[in-house]
Amino acid sequence: MRPAGTLRIHELTPEERAIYDTLKPECLPEHVAIIMDGNGRWAGSRSLKRFLGHQQGAKSVQLVTETASRIGLPWLTLYAFSLENNLRRPKAEVSFLMRLLKSYLEGNVQRMMDNNVRIRYIGRTHELPSEVQETMQWATETTVANTGTTLTLALNYGGRSELVDAFRSLATEMRHKHLSPERITEEDIHRHLYTAHMPDPDLLIRTSGEMRISNYLLWQIAYAEIFVTNRLWPDFRGIHLLEAIADFQRRERRFGGLSESVGVTDEEAERAKIAVS
Ligand code: FPP
Repeated sequence: MRPAGTLRIHELTPEERAIYDTLKPECLPEHVAIIMDGNGRWAGSRSLKRFLGHQQGAKSVQLVTETASRIGLPWLTLYAFSLENNLRRPKAEVSFLMRLLKSYLEGNVQRMMDNNVRIRYIGRTHELPSEVQETMQWATETTVANTGTTLTLALNYGGRSELVDAFRSLATEMRHKHLSPERITEEDIHRHLYTAHMPDPDLLIRTSGEMRISNYLLWQIAYAEIFVTNRLWPDFRGIHLLEAIADFQRRERRFGGLSESVGVTDEEAERAKIAVS
């Protein structure tokens, strides 16, 4: 169910509006997830330091979120900092990303309020520096009553570690309730994920051309449509989100079934002979 966030189509740019007008409003995705990649390459191609690529990437986060809120997208989930980034990037880059996150939140919460955006997080956020956690909590509390787009930032996030955390908490629950493992259902696993309160993403976008999932939302993207663009994240804007949604609407989602135009009657199935030699 789409929440009641007010549409603000009149705030789209004329170029965005032209694409929006080609969309079927009843078939918009509920949840778009994005792997934001290419900040370093964006900076490198301009002989700039990587940091400037991340800084420009933070601007894209805000602009894309605002377009999402104007078209009434209920859920937008951005891969902002992975567990692997935390472990494998130089300390100076990790500490820059943390400072950037903090100043991004401090500088943009008012714009989130203006755009009716609610901010949340997924990941092992308790491992982030405490001053960053404090700002994160403040941003969440300030925007908690907003009813438009929920912007979820995946921070210190890894899909496998999310599953480990979910299985641990499910196992604890089962032990308390004296339940046997045969009782576990997909719904139980869903209930223990960081994303328990959200629908699964319908559309996963990855920028900068890599054909990888990078340990992002492994359980949740089981039936997501994947859209990869060569555009680097710092160059990604609302108009590109709308282009990805237009592409999504041209896909036929079958969830393992058949398209509506391909029907097989019981009689046809009965008559068909399977030749196995
Ligand atoms: C990949 O670029 C991007 C990240 C490390 C995560 C995304 C971070 C941002 C968009 C910055 C700020 C975000 C917020 C929410 C304030 P990369 O360094 O892997 O690029 P490369 O593959 O070209 O080197």
